[in-house]
Amino acid sequence: MGTPRDAGMRLVMLGAPGAGKGTQADRLAVRYGIPHVSTGDLFRANLSQGTALGQTAQRFMSQGQLVPDEVTEAMAWERLNAGDAETGYILDGFPRNVAQAQHFESKLVLAQQSLRAVVHIYVEPVVLERRLTGRRTCPGCKASYHVVFNPPALAGICDACGAELVQRDDDRPETVKKRLEVYMDETAPLVNYYSERGLLVMVDGNWPVDNVTDAILARLEGDRGHD
Ligand code: AP5
Repeated sequence: MGTPRDAGMRLVMLGAPGAGKGTQADRLAVRYGIPHVSTGDLFRANLSQGTALGQTAQRFMSQGQLVPDEVTEAMAWERLNAGDAETGYILDGFPRNVAQAQHFESKLVLAQQSLRAVVHIYVEPVVLERRLTGRRTCPGCKASYHVVFNPPALAGICDACGAELVQRDDDRPETVKKRLEVYMDETAPLVNYYSERGLLVMVDGNWPVDNVTDAILARLEGDRGHD
């Protein structure tokens, strides 16, 4: 994909809902000084701003379904072309099916850009459910916590900005079940798709957050190590 001269740090995070894509993407974004672009966050931002796109997305998100490809692809590509993403990005939640991946690949080729790697974080299904139903997020600064695995210092309050934490609508048990089914049907085939293109980096996400970060950096940076 792309040209050998393209030095952009473009990474895709792949994994089931709750695998830790957002958690790890935040850390990688800080390390590499590039934005963390999450299509789920873009949809939620649109919803809180009351845009038509946000309302369309909400109809699908609340059911645990994927938002239609044409809506998602246009929104994602526009964000990836913003000035802060010129030298790279950590893309989280996109592409999410083979059609989106093919569309994205054609856009990258036209732009003479390439992906550096696709980081697949794999986690046992029973762990995924526990992570999602225990997740709490900050409506203010968007920080993410877990009631057991990553609790805030004061229960229910954001460490960073003091706002009251909330549970995402789609983290209710019945929606979580549907999201995991949709992942298996629609997104899991991307593991083969990117493996065939020599881009896949597999990381065991069942370990604590710091261990997973170390494993990702070891795979991305190899012998150069990390701090
Ligand atoms: P999106 O917001 O992308 O959600 P998701 O992919 O389901 O992923 P999550 O954010 O739930 O999980 P994550 O892997 O980021 O885990 P996290 O780091 O938060 O998408 C939501 C919806 O938007 C979709 O269902 C769909 O409707 C729509 N959508 C989005 N993109 C789309 C697209 N491309 N096409 C169509 N529709 C799209 O971690 C989870 C919890 O676990 C946290 O509490 C965290 O603290 C904890 N945790 C993380 N890592 C660890 C660890 N190693 N050990 C212990 N706890 C951990």
